Amino acid sequence: MRRAFAAALLLLLSCHGFAAAPQVARGRGGAVAAAEENAARAGIEMLKRGGNAADAAVAVAFALAVTWPEAGNIGGGGFWISRDARGKTLALDFREVAPRTARRDLFTRPGPGGVAPSSTEGPFASGVPGSVDGLWRAHRALGRLSWKTVLAPAIRLARQGFVVSETLSRSIAIPKYRKRLAADPETAAIFLPGGEPLVPGSTFRQPALARTLEAIRDRGADGFYRGRVAREIETGQKKVGGLITRGDLAIYTSKIRRALQFPFGGAQIVTLPAPASGPVLAEMAYLAGFVGLPKLKGRDPASAHYLAEIEKRAFLDRNRFLGDPAFGGVREKVFTDLARLKRIAATIDPNRASRSEGLRALPEEAPSTTHFSVVDGAGGVVAVTTTLNDWYGNGRVAPGLGFLWNNEMDDFATTPGKPNTYGLIQGEVNAVAPGKRMLSAMCPMIAVLGNRNAYAWGTRGGSTIPTSNFQVLLGVLLRGEILEAAVGAPRFHQQDFPDKIQIERNRFDANWIEALRRLGHTVAERDLDGDPIGEIYAIARSADGTVSAVADPRRTGAALVVTEAR
Ligand code: DON
Repeated sequence: MRRAFAAALLLLLSCHGFAAAPQVARGRGGAVAAAEENAARAGIEMLKRGGNAADAAVAVAFALAVTWPEAGNIGGGGFWISRDARGKTLALDFREVAPRTARRDLFTRPGPGGVAPSSTEGPFASGVPGSVDGLWRAHRALGRLSWKTVLAPAIRLARQGFVVSETLSRSIAIPKYRKRLAADPETAAIFLPGGEPLVPGSTFRQPALARTLEAIRDRGADGFYRGRVAREIETGQKKVGGLITRGDLAIYTSKIRRALQFPFGGAQIVTLPAPASGPVLAEMAYLAGFVGLPKLKGRDPASAHYLAEIEKRAFLDRNRFLGDPAFGGVREKVFTDLARLKRIAATIDPNRASRSEGLRALPEEAPSTTHFSVVDGAGGVVAVTTTLNDWYGNGRVAPGLGFLWNNEMDDFATTPGKPNTYGLIQGEVNAVAPGKRMLSAMCPMIAVLGNRNAYAWGTRGGSTIPTSNFQVLLGVLLRGEILEAAVGAPRFHQQDFPDKIQIERNRFDANWIEALRRLGHTVAERDLDGDPIGEIYAIARSADGTVSAVADPRRTGAALVVTEAR
C-alpha cells in the first residue's frame, strides 16, 4: 500500500517536471554539473551541436540567470577558469566594481534620515555588474558556436518559460528573501505573483528579462553596457537613489588575469588570483605540504586538527593581504612565499589548537552563489563561480529589465577598522573605493595531471568556498577517493575568526568532536539555518576520455553527460 502511494506520488511529481535530475553521471563526449537542470541541459545542447566547453559554459551561465534567480545572474559577477585540451588557459575576472561615486565612508556616513546606507539591502548594495562583459569576452576568446546560438537557450527559457521546481519555490519562501523580494512591487510581481511564491509545477515566464537578453544577443556586451538597457538601468537607479550610471556601465571591463598555479598531490592546480581567493587555496596547499601530507590523509580528529590549523592561518593572511590588486596594500606574494609558509607551518602544534587573535575577521556569509563545471569531448574544461552575493542579491529587479541586482558591496570591508554588521573587523586593503573590485572568496579550480585536465570544480558558500574546494582536493588527490565520495564527504570550516571549527549538522560523530575539543578547538555546528558547507559541482575526466559529473548531494542540482555509459 505504502509502495503504491510512493509510486503514485513519484508519477505525479514527474508529471510536474519534478523527476529528480541525476546527481552523478558517467559517460563520454562531455559533461555539465550545475545547480539547475534546465541550465545544465542548455550546456549539453551546445556540446551536442559541436560547441566546445566554453560555448557550453556561456550557455549555462545565461540560462542560470533565467532558471536559477537565487544566484545565476546578469546583474552580478564572478570568476571563470578554463583550460582547453591543448593546455590554453583563460583566467577571467568579471567581478563587480564599486560605482565611481562610491567613497570609503559610503556605508558609515549617515544619509538624509541620519542612517548610513545598507550594503545588503536597497540600491547602495549593488556593484556595477560584470557577468555580461565576462561571458562576452570568454566567448570571443574561446567560443566556436555563434553568440546567438549560445544565448538561445536562455532566451527560450525566459520567453517560453520553464516549470517551477520545489527548490525554487521554497527558496523564494525563505522569510529573509521573501521580505526583500516583496519590498519592490515590480520584483514582487515576478517572484511573488498574487503575493505568494511561484507555485511548483507552474510555468514561469520572464518577458522583461527575455528582452534584456535579446538586446545582449543582438549587440553583444554593448547590448547591456550601452544603449537602451544602459539608459534604463540609469533611469531605474536614479528613481531609487542608486549610484550606478551609464558612465559606470560604459567603463566596466572584465579582466584577463594570469592564472595562479601551484602543485598539489601530483597535480598542477589552476585557479584565479586576487580579487578571487585562489591565493588562499595555494597557501593551504603549501602549508599542507610543510606539515606533511600523510598527516592530512585521514578523516580522523588528528587530520582535522592539522587542517583546521592550516585553514585558520590561510584566512588570517586573506583578511590582511587580499583585495583588488589594482589598489594599494595587496600582497599576493605572501601566499606563495615558501620560506614564509614553512615558518608558518612550524607554528602548528600537533597537540593543541592555536588561538586566533580575533579582530581580523570574516563574516559568516549567507547564501548565495552558484558554481558550474563543463567538460567537452576533447577534454577542454571550464569552471565558473558566479554570484549576486545573497540569494536574489538585494532582492530588486532593474525596472523594466527583469534582472536582479547584486548586493556585492557587502563584500568590501564596509567599515575598515571598525566592526561590521557581524561584529567583525576586516582589512583596510579591502576598503570601498571608486572603481575597485571587492575581495571574493570564490576560487573555481582545475586539477591537471600530466597534461590532462583531470578535474574541475567549485562551490558557493561565502567564506567556506576555499576550504570546501580544498577538502575535495584532499579527497581526490590525497585520499584517492572517487569524485562523488570526495564531494559527498562531511565538511568543516575554520576561518580564523570566529575562532571555531564550524561543522555540518549531523555529519560528525560525538567522539570526533570530543577529540578536537580536547585539543583545544571550539567545535560548533554551522548555524545558518542548517546550511551545509559548500555546494560542489564537479567533473572528472580520465585518461581514456570517460567523464564523470557530480552534483553535490546536499542539494538538487544536475549532473549530465553527452553520452551515458552503459
Ligand atoms: O564573492 C564572495 O566571496 C561572496 N559574494 C560569495 C557569497 C556566497 O558564496 C554565498 N553563497 N552561498
